[in-house]
Amino acid sequence: MINIGILGYGTVGSGVVEVLNTNQESINKRANEEINIKYVLDLRDFPGDPIQNKIVHDFDKIIKDEEIKIIVEVMGGVEPAYTFVKNALLAGKSVCTSNKELVAKHGCELLQIAREKNINFLFEASVGGGIPIIRPLNSSLTADEIDEITGILNGTTNYILSKMAHEGLDFDTVLKDAQDKGFAERHPEADIEGYDACRKIAILSSLAFGNQVDYEDIYTEGITKITAEDIKYANQMGRAIKLLASSKRVGDSFYAMVAPFMISSEHPLFSVNNVFNGIFAHGNVLGDVMFYGSGAGKLPTASAVVADVVDAAKHLNRNIMQLWSNKKLELADIRSSKT
Ligand code: HSE
Repeated sequence: MINIGILGYGTVGSGVVEVLNTNQESINKRANEEINIKYVLDLRDFPGDPIQNKIVHDFDKIIKDEEIKIIVEVMGGVEPAYTFVKNALLAGKSVCTSNKELVAKHGCELLQIAREKNINFLFEASVGGGIPIIRPLNSSLTADEIDEITGILNGTTNYILSKMAHEGLDFDTVLKDAQDKGFAERHPEADIEGYDACRKIAILSSLAFGNQVDYEDIYTEGITKITAEDIKYANQMGRAIKLLASSKRVGDSFYAMVAPFMISSEHPLFSVNNVFNGIFAHGNVLGDVMFYGSGAGKLPTASAVVADVVDAAKHLNRNIMQLWSNKKLELADIRSSKT
């Protein structure tokens, strides 16, 4: 039996419990072990919830328990998540997280600690919700030099833009709907100003290009200036407005940006609508490859977290993630780029 502790019982945390319960038999078979939730850390109590007896309010209880081999961090935000995750790894516990702020800011250091301890720091759910993209970049695409990654990486903004275009709804109504459905961040500026997509393209770029890409260096523009008129004109031209996050090799350098683009129906991301995300990549030997699926939401995100738990359980004492160097990748000035 492998005991795990879950940090956070919000949307994703409760999804992780649900996925582990729903697919218990097949998950245990694939992990070659019974996965047992021993603790759930949250500030709240959950009277009447089946996990109420597992709720703890003190992280120390989890970290000091030698039976805990894997920690699932689904709290979000940099602190206290960073402190908890770092201490967990230093204590020899593998960590699976959906926390893109944490990975974008401290991923390089946390991967290094996991490597030194011969355990794992896994973060499939941090980009693209339920879409496998971190694992492919860590394995199937490692024969290639990746020249480009361009994606619709934020479900909330894609949902807003799609509903505005297809149903003529206004921005605020659709944003409220996305918040009610649990896609949007606690502070939706992170979605609508493009910061969430920026962190995600920073993570993908760091992994693909092997050096730290600082999200603060990435030119980022959200969708708040997009009007109903813009959408109407795009529709009339048979085009769609999409918030793209893109990272490309330009000569010896790279550029990265997040901004709304008007794209034609021939563009591979044109048909990625609603909360779906799409990620297009180009490898120098593979050529084009596309990933598509549910980019946000409780169960798709939890599915990716639990897949990491299965991998962590299968490789308890073997590090399986590539590192990226802490040497900062200097990004080209996009205004001087020819692409
Ligand atoms: N707020 C994010 C989104 C959640 O809408 O894509 C998933 O990272």
